[in-house]
Amino acid sequence: MFKRTLITSALPYANGPVHIGHLAGVYVPADIYARYLRLKGEEVMFVGGSDEHGVPITIKARNEGVTPQDIVDRYHKMIKESFEELGISFDVYGRTTSKTHHKNASDFFRKLYDKGEFIEKTSEQLYDEEAGEFLADRYVVGTCPHCGKDGAYGDQCEACGTSLSPSDLINPKSKLSGSTPVLKETSHWYLPLDKWEPKLRQWILEEHKEWRPNVYGQCKSWLDMGLQPRAVSRDLKWGIPVPVDGAEGKVLYVWFDAPIGYISNTIDATPEWEKWWKDKDTRMIHFIGKDNIVFHCIVFPAMLLAHGEYNLPDNVPANEFLNLEDDKISTSRNWAVWLHEYLRELPGKQDVLRYVLTANAPETKDNNFTWKDFQARNNSELVAILGNFINRATVLIHKYYGGMIPAAGELTEADKEMMKEVKESINSLSSNLDNFKFREGLKDAMNVARIGNKYLADTEPWKLIKTDPVRTATILNLAVQLCANLAVIFEPFTPFMAAKLAEQLRLKVLKWDMTGKFDLVPDGIEIGQPELLFEKVEDAVVEAQVKKLEDAKQKNILENWQPNAVKETVDFPTFEKMDIRVGKVLECEKVPKADKLLKFKIDDGMGGRTIVSGIAKYYNPEDLLGKDVCFIANFAPRKLKGVESQGMILSAQDSDGRLVVIGPTGEVRPGSSVG
Ligand code: 2FM
Ligand code: ZN
Repeated sequence: MFKRTLITSALPYANGPVHIGHLAGVYVPADIYARYLRLKGEEVMFVGGSDEHGVPITIKARNEGVTPQDIVDRYHKMIKESFEELGISFDVYGRTTSKTHHKNASDFFRKLYDKGEFIEKTSEQLYDEEAGEFLADRYVVGTCPHCGKDGAYGDQCEACGTSLSPSDLINPKSKLSGSTPVLKETSHWYLPLDKWEPKLRQWILEEHKEWRPNVYGQCKSWLDMGLQPRAVSRDLKWGIPVPVDGAEGKVLYVWFDAPIGYISNTIDATPEWEKWWKDKDTRMIHFIGKDNIVFHCIVFPAMLLAHGEYNLPDNVPANEFLNLEDDKISTSRNWAVWLHEYLRELPGKQDVLRYVLTANAPETKDNNFTWKDFQARNNSELVAILGNFINRATVLIHKYYGGMIPAAGELTEADKEMMKEVKESINSLSSNLDNFKFREGLKDAMNVARIGNKYLADTEPWKLIKTDPVRTATILNLAVQLCANLAVIFEPFTPFMAAKLAEQLRLKVLKWDMTGKFDLVPDGIEIGQPELLFEKVEDAVVEAQVKKLEDAKQKNILENWQPNAVKETVDFPTFEKMDIRVGKVLECEKVPKADKLLKFKIDDGMGGRTIVSGIAKYYNPEDLLGKDVCFIANFAPRKLKGVESQGMILSAQDSDGRLVVIGPTGEVRPGSSVG
């Protein structure tokens, strides 16, 4: 049996703020779990921190003309403060530029180096001769071989999303000097993961069959493909220097140092840090997103095995991804709800965000956040079920008894049934939380509030007060006890509400072993004034958020728009084959049963012709009447929805995909040739 739990949550890169995808995937579930274990009285250490190395930080610094340290100082502070405001209850929130971490990560590397756990290998890497530096993939830009757009990075083309390697780029250039990079030999240290493969296989595939299927499956497929040695150093200026003679200009690879950050931050948290990492009766749980699975289940464990003194994680409940309004969250496209902005724009609504992200947690598959759903869950669940029940119970206590808890009399079958149902829901909740099923757990918690509402609706104390005050007292006593249960079981999910409610009910502490009990608020004590625990979210609030997203999308499209690559060269005779003319629009109408098509009658100076064009989404039939347009006169006729089209009207595609018809800027006779 374990005695204590070390909970880690992925260290976010300090090169930007955190968004709801990070929260739903990692920090909210980790926090729920930490709070739940603390309520159970277990010994917990919840470790977080910022990941402050890596190439994107250096690129951001270069773009802004500041140092990487400036960047990480800015975002570390912002991330740390916004986590605090959201109630993420880290026991320690450190950073990988700390002194402790530099020493700890260096010592870790050195220990593996001294034990002969690394192999040294030479390879060819891109090098900028003018700048005198090796280039990380992100520092090489060129033309994408897939879509032909410029500005593709050595690891990915952001225009078409294709993964690339620097050698795929057409006309590669260094972002440092603009010169063409060359290949140059360099040597690095590699951790031979293959050496640890049998151990990892046994540990994950045999001993941890209980891991989530997505995690287990990803590990299995990595192991089945066969593990390879992995480089743990890089030629970079920003990072922790490789602590070996002759390694000038080399730093630890960010994915080598970052997970060691969990250890470093524990060292900063307590002088007793070793018990959290080495004692066999400590278990470690890593909360991460699915893109981090291989690092936490294969690479870091191999590092820990090579080191030899540390425990391996007991579970890695990785989440899938959260989408936003049916589109992938993207930092570069600014398609995100940023935590610091949410906190500023929807003040006092931390619990609502925590609730909605848990209700939509991407635990087994990718899930979606929409502002409509946010509003609906707030208004029809938090306000109408949870808030409403607590409010009704506490308002009646004040109304009938001046806020003093009346003693309960004899219990009826209905009371006992209600209590039994509450206990069952709470048992289910505990079991779900024990198994990292936070979404299901939240449903169980909400079910307790539903039971409360039903109990009041069935027993109708507001009617009974006139005829049976003794029975009314029992009902309202039990209703308040149910509220006290809600304060405990909602603490992991909505801690701000739970704290207010606990204060109102004069509960000095909240503990999990209070749950399922109905004597938590003693008879005769005076409870606080009812407070509105949740408020309705109005349409205007969510409409403003949706508009903000749409504006960001539009701005991003405009900023990132690039013309298509120029097509293959053609000679004049080839060009001349195209018979482009000017014509005047005489008539225009919609084509029946075809949303996209408009049928034009064009004066072509040769007796007229019909052209069908797929622009009905962008023009009303009357918009182009009398206008001169360009069309291809010798385009092979074709039937569209039963109408023969004798040519093609030319249009340009705007940055948002909208088609705009092209015509002459001055007077020309219908039928004039364009060329
Ligand atoms: O994917 C990320 O955002 C990484 N910064 C996570 C690091 S987790 C741990 F290893 F530090
Ligand atoms: Zn591309």
